[in-house]
Amino acid sequence: MPAIILVGTQWGDEGKGKATDLLADDVDYVVRYQGGSNAGHTVIVDDLELKLHLVPSGIAYPAVTPVIGDGVVVDPAALLEELDELTAKGLDVSQLKISGNAHLVMPYHRELDKVTERYLGKQKLGTTKRGIGPAYADKAARVGLRVQDLYDMKIFRQKLDVVLREKNATLSRVYNRMPMQAGDIETEHAVYAERLRPYITDTVGLLHDALEDDRTVMLEGAQGTLLDLDHGTYPFVTSSNPVAGGALTGAGLGPKHVDRVIGVTKAYVTRVGSGPFPTEVSGEVADRLTAAGHEFGTTTGRQRRVGWFDAVLIRYAARVNGLTEHFLTKMDVLSEFDTLRVCRAYRYAGEEYEHFPPHQSIFHRAEPVYEEHPGWRTDISDVRDYRSLPAEAQAFVDRIEELSGAPIRYVSVGPSRAQTLERDGR
Ligand code: IMP
Repeated sequence: MPAIILVGTQWGDEGKGKATDLLADDVDYVVRYQGGSNAGHTVIVDDLELKLHLVPSGIAYPAVTPVIGDGVVVDPAALLEELDELTAKGLDVSQLKISGNAHLVMPYHRELDKVTERYLGKQKLGTTKRGIGPAYADKAARVGLRVQDLYDMKIFRQKLDVVLREKNATLSRVYNRMPMQAGDIETEHAVYAERLRPYITDTVGLLHDALEDDRTVMLEGAQGTLLDLDHGTYPFVTSSNPVAGGALTGAGLGPKHVDRVIGVTKAYVTRVGSGPFPTEVSGEVADRLTAAGHEFGTTTGRQRRVGWFDAVLIRYAARVNGLTEHFLTKMDVLSEFDTLRVCRAYRYAGEEYEHFPPHQSIFHRAEPVYEEHPGWRTDISDVRDYRSLPAEAQAFVDRIEELSGAPIRYVSVGPSRAQTLERDGR
């Protein structure tokens, strides 16, 4: 059986948890392949609302094995806290598998994420301050500590001593912070190691055995395409690769294993943190989108920036991910509006760009070229069959499908599973 990749097509928060929920019954494994506790997935199962950060959303389904793959950065303290919270809500977390190759987010990563953001002042990236960027930087610099290092405290301490020398010099001399003590970090991590021991697995072997055994594996992206380190709006991005290619490296699979790449696409756009956003709106339209869409961050609680549907971004996401289909979320939020706007291209210096511009300055100054579409002005959250949607809503989906580089197979009109409409013939 195949692997399915689920990826956000915008700047994260597209509603990927909703898509996982719909597919969970047909899936045996759900794998997080990148990112860390910067993510925020809301999953609603049988009236239970779960806010997940590092734990794959498969945790909510007893028949699914949740896996944290090699490409993830694991903050043990944050993970254990999350597991405790889930256990307190009555969930069985014992099936979780964690790769020994995943890198650790260390206390100095969290501290450096905070102080560098402060230091950047107005130029700040608006990170989640969870230590993600510094942890991936150390991974690339080959001074990172990995989950498997927790199980040989001698090696752990040797590596820690080397890296801490440089981190402490930076913390104290550049940022005027207190240095950290290796002994304290070692003691703290020895406790984490024992608690995490039951979950550590050869996840690559596990997933290949599963695929050979005809099981279905879903690779669940965090963040979104435009936050991708290589393909997003650099430098206002995260430090990993949410795109479909990142799913393969992060989980240890090859292209031949994958037969669906589902893009989760919100019917409008949101962004948290800094960076360009051509279709961003303010004022009354923004207030209405924010209120109707509950657009506040799951991880940081920050109010999200909001804007109209941007087809240029979505076409780009369809290309760089090789999308086979879109899962359109939050259509019901648009029921608010008499007129809906859709950006079909950008204009810059008298030229129109139908595709993502090749230079950052064009994107930063791009003026959206909008089409206007009539709204449906009626509550659609009780609709249970696509063909029963108002004609204006169906016309809107048809039009954005034309612009979006892949078929729109699902349309979501509310948070629960019953509020997902599947379109015929896609
Ligand atoms: P970092 O991933 O914490 O380094 O933050 C880098 C950028 O990615 C910032 O703009 C964050 O707001 C954004 N970001 C990180 N995780 C998420 C997410 O789960 N949803 C939306 N934005 C995110």
